[in-house]
Amino acid sequence: MAILKIARMGHPVLKRRADPVEDPSSPEISRLINDMMDTLADVGGVGLAAPQVHVPLRVVIFHVPKARMEAEDGEGPAIGVPLTVLINPEIEPLDDEIEEGVEACLSVPGLAGVVPRYNHIRYRAQTPAGEPLDRVAKGFHARVVQHECDHLDGFLYPMRMNDLSKLSFVEELKRYAGEEAED
Ligand code: NI
Repeated sequence: MAILKIARMGHPVLKRRADPVEDPSSPEISRLINDMMDTLADVGGVGLAAPQVHVPLRVVIFHVPKARMEAEDGEGPAIGVPLTVLINPEIEPLDDEIEEGVEACLSVPGLAGVVPRYNHIRYRAQTPAGEPLDRVAKGFHARVVQHECDHLDGFLYPMRMNDLSKLSFVEELKRYAGEEAED
């Protein structure tokens, strides 16, 4: 078990394109994934990309808490997405619909911003067993995958914002919540 140090905005590892993983089931990748899981559990985020722990490889982990899906859908039985590992992921937007939503990032501590993302995507990746994974996602699930996969190409969410007046400190967002309607 190892909790890894998280790279913050400005670190070169977050700016480069991460390298493909050649052998998803290698012991090194398995160790990396375990350490990323320990780190994510310790800091309590929804997702983490390998470059955020100073490893420039195309590996992402994420989960979607059931509560987030419930808050969003409000209809039907909400199911979260269990902790998922994506190796060498590829994203394909399924239509042109763009939705704005608030994002935060462990590499940009204390801040949150409104980011436009595709609402419907398909994503494909390899699992740690080397098996293909192929899923369709929408809403917050799709947002998390786009945010995490952006880390593999050197993008942090502020670089995806089209209105920087919607970048805030989380503390201020909470303090003034309700005064300015969002989303
Ligand atoms: Ni992030």
